Amino acid sequence: MKKFLALSLALTMSLSLAACGGTGGSSGSGSDTGSGSSSGSGGDSGAQTIGISMPTQSLERWNRDGSYLDQQFQSAGYETIVTYSDNDTNRQVNDIQNMIAEGVDLLVVAAIDGEALNTVMNEAGEAGIPIIAYDRLIMNDNVSYYVSFDNYTVGTLQGQYIVETLDLENAAGPFNIELTAGDPADNNAPYFFGGAMDVLQQYIDSGKLVVVSGQTEFDTVATAQWDSQTALERAQNILASYYADGTQLDAWLCSNDSTALGVTQAIQSDYAGSNSVLITGQDGDEANLRNIVDGVQSMTVYKAVANEAVVTLDLAKAILNGDTIDESLIENSAWDFDCSYDTESYSTSEGHTCPSFLLVPDVVTADNMVEKLVDTGYYTQDADGYLTAAG
Ligand code: GAL
Repeated sequence: MKKFLALSLALTMSLSLAACGGTGGSSGSGSDTGSGSSSGSGGDSGAQTIGISMPTQSLERWNRDGSYLDQQFQSAGYETIVTYSDNDTNRQVNDIQNMIAEGVDLLVVAAIDGEALNTVMNEAGEAGIPIIAYDRLIMNDNVSYYVSFDNYTVGTLQGQYIVETLDLENAAGPFNIELTAGDPADNNAPYFFGGAMDVLQQYIDSGKLVVVSGQTEFDTVATAQWDSQTALERAQNILASYYADGTQLDAWLCSNDSTALGVTQAIQSDYAGSNSVLITGQDGDEANLRNIVDGVQSMTVYKAVANEAVVTLDLAKAILNGDTIDESLIENSAWDFDCSYDTESYSTSEGHTCPSFLLVPDVVTADNMVEKLVDTGYYTQDADGYLTAAG
């Protein structure tokens, strides 16, 4: 577990939540072309340049993030440089160093490894370039602000969904469950897992939920790089070792959709039982929404990354204008979605908190998918009932 988790998980109490009317989300620009740069449409030689460093194109959401961010900044008249670093930390360091050399005015960075960007963050700091840690916090005090979703709540939503769906308060049980967490290098991963376990632990303690494999520690259930194949192989091993004798598996907590994809595949190919297994996720990746429609994944925690890009743009503008930044950004921005300003929950080093703008995640199931994702314009529904991200 990360050093600052205990401190950071302690509260979300003193947050101010503001919801204001006005315009909000935007639509993405479709497919991305990988590492490379794109010029803003402003054509203004005095335009400022934003360096946007994304972790990888191998996970669907980051393509959407890169695309939304690029589009937001360009339509506001900025030049942009967008890179994807193929989940390779050295490459991300290199990509950011190139941006610094290009003289970018501000960096937006979604880190592959929150603890591995120290040198390059120091270089950005020395060059006087403000840094927004995007979605994943970076453990370096040069980070100016953090924009993300409430990561702990993502986990609690997954845990609560399991509690409610299995009716753990009333049903006799016991129910069997397995756990899959995210990438240990990703600062978010322990928050997701910690949030879910804070809800589930009491039922494990009372024996109503049984982790048959006994694998409950974050480090044991983590999935390097959130890789579907890694999650698939671990799930196959667990099914072979603990469930081949017909033991019923009732639920599998997965911290996100890419890991849920692997676990779902393992259950389809290797699970001896015939009951449907409750599987959680996060992100609303198209393949997972398809699985939810088909009834083989139960839910996903959706994070409207289009709105995350809107917050990032408005924050960047305020930074570059030299405005005072606090919760008034939320009041002044007139977003049509909820966001809180939090100066306590996230730390980049011991004793050094990072002011954060946190958006609100939401549970999506087969029953509310159209209302939450299609009616809001984030996805379109195809004739076959499946969803495609709006582009
Ligand atoms: C997390 C992010 C999640 C999910 C995961 C895998 O940092 O917050 O939304 O995408 O990475 O990429």
